[in-house]
Amino acid sequence: MTEEVADEALRAIGIFDSGVGGLSVLASIRSQLPKEDLIYVADSAHAPYGDKSEAQLLERVEQICNYLDRNQVKAIVVACNTATAATVDRLRAQHAMPIVAIEPGIKPAVAASRNGRIGVMATRHMLASSRYQRLLEAFGGDAQIVSRACPGLVEEIEAGRPDSPKTGELLQQYLGPMLAEGIDTLVLGCTHYPLLRPQIAEICGPDVQLLDTGEPVARQLQARLEQSGLLRKEAGGQEQFVTSGAPEVFAAQVQLLFDRGLRPVREIQELD
Ligand code: DGL
Repeated sequence: MTEEVADEALRAIGIFDSGVGGLSVLASIRSQLPKEDLIYVADSAHAPYGDKSEAQLLERVEQICNYLDRNQVKAIVVACNTATAATVDRLRAQHAMPIVAIEPGIKPAVAASRNGRIGVMATRHMLASSRYQRLLEAFGGDAQIVSRACPGLVEEIEAGRPDSPKTGELLQQYLGPMLAEGIDTLVLGCTHYPLLRPQIAEICGPDVQLLDTGEPVARQLQARLEQSGLLRKEAGGQEQFVTSGAPEVFAAQVQLLFDRGLRPVREIQELD
């Protein structure tokens, strides 16, 4: 039994994704909230999530959140658009603590686009979800939105091949039709895709702005912690990384990404 942490504000924030994608969100949280302790769960043994059913995703997320509950986190960040689509309503019904969840930035994209033509890259599960439909209805306005499921990219990133010829071919295949439609704004609607930002930017060129929602999530998390009196005032800033896959593989992935500007792994435990 873990010892009870008396001051709730001193508890860690739990962040999870199917794999390394949520590290793009962790990076924003770290720079917004440097004092907070973070526990990052990568469900690497079960990635990708993008083609899983709602029932499968509910089961995975329940296991992850049980782990985070046992570790007495004070808030949970769903750093996976696909998991948000399938599970966030259930999570909020089950937990009293703040649950902050990422989703594709349709609203900021509509505000930012000059020509009203917007591309959205996301997983099949996300695009087929009622949550995505509701997002389009609520914030899409008159914009012409070209949504594209992008299977295969997460697999390449998780395999440590963000620069592979296959990644390049898939990106050409997915982005080509959107660029032909004249999009000037592209929503990176899966947290793995910001890890391909340089490759995507190269194909899209300087006239297309790329939007991800890591920073808004970090700001929303800060606001929720403040409202709940849970914001940490004392110095902290520890990070713990947990994976359901092989720790050495995850460490190698993070090293690869660290070379791309993310923080290193400090500690890895098996997800039990
Ligand atoms: N990174 C996740 C997302 O934002 C999941 C991708 C996947 O595992 O397919 O959707």
